[in-house]
Amino acid sequence: MRYINFLGLSALAGVSHALNLTVGSTGGNGTSGMQYGIMFEDINHSGDGGIYAELIQNRAFQGSTEYPSTINPWTAVNGAILSLKGLSQPLSSALPTSLNVAASSGVVGISNPGWWGIDVKVQKYTGSFWVKGSYQGAFTASLQSSITHETLASTKVISAATSSEWIQHNFTLIPNKAASNVNNTFSITYDALGTDGSLDFNLISLFPPTYKNRPNGLRPDIMEALAGLKPSFLRMPGGNNLEGNDPPYYWKWNETIGPLKDRPGYPGTWGYENTNGLGLVEYLQWCEDLEMEPVLAIWAGFYLPGPTISNASLAPYVEDVMNELEFIMGPVSSPYGALRASLGYPKPWSIKFIEVGNEDNLGGGGDSYASYRFEAFYTAIKAVYPDMVVMASTVAYDFGADAAGDYHQYTRPDYFVGQFNYFDHFRTGHKTLVGEYAAVQPNIPSGGSVNWSLPKWMFPVWIGTVAEAVFLIGTERNADKMIGAAYAPLLQNLNSYEWSPDLISFSADPSEDVLSTSYHLVELFSGTRITSTLPTSNSTFGPVYWVAGTNNVTGSHILKTAVYNSTAPVPMNVSFAEVRTGATATLTLLTAPDAYSFNDVGTNVVQKTVETLRATVGGTFAFELPDLSVGVLEVVGG
Ligand code: AHR
Repeated sequence: MRYINFLGLSALAGVSHALNLTVGSTGGNGTSGMQYGIMFEDINHSGDGGIYAELIQNRAFQGSTEYPSTINPWTAVNGAILSLKGLSQPLSSALPTSLNVAASSGVVGISNPGWWGIDVKVQKYTGSFWVKGSYQGAFTASLQSSITHETLASTKVISAATSSEWIQHNFTLIPNKAASNVNNTFSITYDALGTDGSLDFNLISLFPPTYKNRPNGLRPDIMEALAGLKPSFLRMPGGNNLEGNDPPYYWKWNETIGPLKDRPGYPGTWGYENTNGLGLVEYLQWCEDLEMEPVLAIWAGFYLPGPTISNASLAPYVEDVMNELEFIMGPVSSPYGALRASLGYPKPWSIKFIEVGNEDNLGGGGDSYASYRFEAFYTAIKAVYPDMVVMASTVAYDFGADAAGDYHQYTRPDYFVGQFNYFDHFRTGHKTLVGEYAAVQPNIPSGGSVNWSLPKWMFPVWIGTVAEAVFLIGTERNADKMIGAAYAPLLQNLNSYEWSPDLISFSADPSEDVLSTSYHLVELFSGTRITSTLPTSNSTFGPVYWVAGTNNVTGSHILKTAVYNSTAPVPMNVSFAEVRTGATATLTLLTAPDAYSFNDVGTNVVQKTVETLRATVGGTFAFELPDLSVGVLEVVGG
């Protein structure tokens, strides 16, 4: 318990005047409040090699004209000859390329190092592989340490292989001890004497336990970190990764559903082939598991950065989106609802928010978007789903009060703070999502925005996080105009990434997950939701920024603050019209050792203090906010 004599502290500090704030009881914008959510696309190996729990890298030799199929990172065991084959009888039309393993004698096979390592623990691993070719005998599926060559787990899989068709072989592995690091490999070996000289392999898969034990599911450590953010929505599947670089490639929903052998994969825009193992259904299950509302982005007839589908040719793409929506939401009696049911999901999902494209104002897409592309999708969707919020992928154009917009901002800390009032000027009634935001580079004397030709921060940095807090507070003050906000990108595999900084970084080793400084900000602000804002007596912002309101579920009164560029700690006197003398509040403060502190593997620079304060006469809470701090004062009851 802390009772603060504000005058005494102020005198000791010898600096700032107190900031006196009185929070009114009515008159703010009473809405459901601003939502905090997450934005996901496969970037930085955030999907394949990331949250998608598949441990085998290049499990099905998927390729495209952009990224041709490769054997990498598979290696031969005991001198077998490996080659890629396009057999006349492939595993499926979606997976036409397979791996031929040739050897006439000896125990041979193939080995895979995972996504820069495999985390081996005493737990059940579930795997399978498809083989074509004659083999009398047993395969051995195993996990080994690459350092000690010790076998960590091994199982025999009796061969059912034949030269006439592809046969799936299933197995489980349970190591009897954990490996000391992730430098491990997965292998399949067999006795070449029992073959006709070679075997063909495809779709070689190995999963550890997944979040909520979903088959084909997600990494538990990353999902638990995300659950900690209490996110309200998931914007997916992009981002640029939705758009595709060149015809005919863009994110096609119908190529991401059904058995894995029927998913061809997709050359994403971030430099690698996507397996599409993490597909539309998996995204919707992810929403279910974290109780999030899907914000479904659909392809809007524009490849990044062009070409654009002409107005005359757009109809099939619009129809495809309507089919996608029927697949997700339609009754089982509808053609696409029936398809969903046939895949094992008779119960429909629901989509309340849909986003037409991604950043369609950029790269030469703007004119077509403004003149016909958005309109075509909007009209078709609204005709069938009048209550759906249909969002433009930009706020650059005015598509009318009923069409929401998506605002993205990657910038420097000072610039973000300068955007505190940005949404004050937005039209009421026009809803906006901040679908992507992040502070990505240090301040520059001119105060300018991001310079894309200069490096970005490796991890979110504390001064940037505080600036994001200022921006989010400004956004939340306009909650009646907002849908919500999401940091982007969400995830980064530290072994292979295209874009930093990211909210969460990771490797194959879950103990090395990095929850960034900005993660801690979202965790705090998302965990203390304001459902109705309340007016405050003072409106001179800087260096302290704030938003006040109530939460209609907990009944609490909340003040969110951020201090940016103060020369000294700021004494605060905060009273709430509806809070009586003697009421207690919790003050949660986030600070860091210095402006440029950041979280890296094994470190957390964010210092979180939680104090209980008691209201003095007039229901006033007195406390002090240091420079570069983020705080939440929460009065439960009153
Ligand atoms: O978040 C990274 C990229 O930034 C997104 O794919 C795109 O929408 C934005 O330009």
